[in-house]
Amino acid sequence: MSDLKAILHEAKAALSALKNMPDLEQTKARFLGKSGSLTEQLKGLGKLSPEAKKSAGAAINEIKGQVEALINDAKARILNTELEAKLAAEAIDVTLPGRTSGVGGLHPVTRSLERIEALFATMGFSVADGPEIETDFFNFTALNTPENHPARSMHDTFYIEGSKNLLRTHTSPVQIRHMLDHQPPIRIICPGRVYRCDHDATHSPMFHQLEGLWVDEGISLADLKGTLTQFLNAYFERDDMQIRFRPSFFPFVEPGVEVDMEWGRVKTAKGDKIKWLEIGGAGVLHPEVLKAGGIDPEKYSGFAFGMGLDRLAMLKYGVNDLRLFFENDMKFLNQFR
Ligand code: PHE
Repeated sequence: MSDLKAILHEAKAALSALKNMPDLEQTKARFLGKSGSLTEQLKGLGKLSPEAKKSAGAAINEIKGQVEALINDAKARILNTELEAKLAAEAIDVTLPGRTSGVGGLHPVTRSLERIEALFATMGFSVADGPEIETDFFNFTALNTPENHPARSMHDTFYIEGSKNLLRTHTSPVQIRHMLDHQPPIRIICPGRVYRCDHDATHSPMFHQLEGLWVDEGISLADLKGTLTQFLNAYFERDDMQIRFRPSFFPFVEPGVEVDMEWGRVKTAKGDKIKWLEIGGAGVLHPEVLKAGGIDPEKYSGFAFGMGLDRLAMLKYGVNDLRLFFENDMKFLNQFR
């Protein structure tokens, strides 16, 4: 009996001091394990007489129950302390600044376009839009380029199988679409994606053009030259930028020109020599194009131009490979944020 009291006493002392589960398991084994002190007591019952066995067994089981209850208490206490420690360690400090997602930026071509739109707006041009999947009619026929016209082979067109549709090869079809919906005075720019089967440092199968169109009474090549000069000076933040026209052929303009702009000057014995850089095609609208747009060519005239928007962005930012614009390399794009 006094043995049992001593065991209970010992268990109380041992369990109250416990701090973790492994120690608890060990202590549990010390009393209730295969050769634990209480187990030994139970084993001893075999030597007793049936009567003595009964009362001694009840006494041992009584103490065993108490020790088990003490173990459960100790277990609950340990788990609770561990949980509290864990919660304290993982507590969220609400005073720390939040984690934000990275701030994006505009693509350099988009940036250029936004500036270009603003500059043309100061000259009274609004922005018009058209579809990238075009019909053969708007992309070619209405632009005075009938089927089998050799000029069609100037464009490496992506045709869409089983239809008369194609990916527009230039933004010029927007001229026709806009004229069909509007009467002069018309003054628009049409920026957008265009597609050609071409790929190298200065050509991408998808690139951007900037179309311009001005139709009114008495519009001539002089207005074209004035408009482009004004625009390029503003865009490159200059005031003495030269442009030049070289005769060229586009079926939808007459006369047609290739537009070169000044890109640096070299000193020579005879003075400064301008270095020229081609930036697009342009010309006075062909009467057939005005007619296709539902506009009377006897009364109105106009000019159109088509410039490479990516080329303008490359020049502005000093980028030397067009493909960089379309590879989505963050190391490149982050420089423009
Ligand atoms: N659409 C022509 C091209 O992509 C450019 C151009 C536009 C030429 C307008 C003349 C007038 O090559």
